[in-house]
Amino acid sequence: MDAPLFELKNASFSPQGKTVVDGVSLAVGQGETVALVGPSGGGKSTVLKLTAGLIIPTRGAAFWRGLDIAGMSRAQTLAFRREAAFVFQDSALWANQSIRQNLEIPLKTHFAAMHAKEREERVAKALAESGYRRSLDIRPADLSMGEQKLVGFSRAMILEPSAVFLDEWTESLDESAARRLVNAIKRKKKEGKTIVFVSHNFTVIKELADRIVMIVDGKVSLSATREEFANDSTLAQYIEQGISV
Ligand SMILES: Nc1ncnc2c1ncn2[C@@H]1O[C@H](COP(=O)(O)OP(=O)(O)OP(=O)(O)O)[C@@H](O)[C@H]1O
Ligand SMILES: [Mg+2]
Repeated sequence: MDAPLFELKNASFSPQGKTVVDGVSLAVGQGETVALVGPSGGGKSTVLKLTAGLIIPTRGAAFWRGLDIAGMSRAQTLAFRREAAFVFQDSALWANQSIRQNLEIPLKTHFAAMHAKEREERVAKALAESGYRRSLDIRPADLSMGEQKLVGFSRAMILEPSAVFLDEWTESLDESAARRLVNAIKRKKKEGKTIVFVSHNFTVIKELADRIVMIVDGKVSLSATREEFANDSTLAQYIEQGISV
């Protein structure tokens, strides 16, 4: 059997001796959509970053296509970063770069030979997908939190990744902007892309997730498939309560 696309094996994360993720095991198959849910401060963002290889477990290990992320070569790391994109909870745009530059940096990193014209087209396409309408020549600090989210989303999509990690990507957006970004992810799911997301929005979770994994106090407290939570109203209620704490 093929290795899962992403896997955490008994992964813990203890910065400065404080354990924030504690022995989490999680396997994400190719084409699967997994929702990480749970109360604030429970460790969802940290589990997402561990799975995406943005941080390395203090104990246990994280794998991409069966490769231990901590031991990957530079070429493997580049391939991994080109394939798996991340939308940060706080957008995490490069503050001293324009919006255009924020989107061009991944293209220049991964496709150094790309012509300026194609780069421009890719930037325009990615921004159109998120619905961003402001100037490309301003800096992130000139944007609202919601507008920054749109740019963060576009930046993640610009490499046309086959796997996407999203951390509360619809928060601080109005309903129609949030709907646009949910629909964009729905399309990626239909195309067979792998999606791992954190959300507090049960409507979005029910719409997208093949599997829900609840993280409480840094541990997996529950894992349920779509069938399980769709057919069991007590379980669905329990999950909804766990999300809204
Ligand atoms: N590098 C770090 N150093 C110290 N503490 C950290 C670090 N990373 C995370 N934490 C702490 O770990 C806990 C879990 O954080 P995390 O951001 O993963 O939670 P979360 O479930 O995503 O919360 P929220 O729903 O509020 O976004 C928090 O108390 C946070 O302050
Ligand atoms: Mg978080």
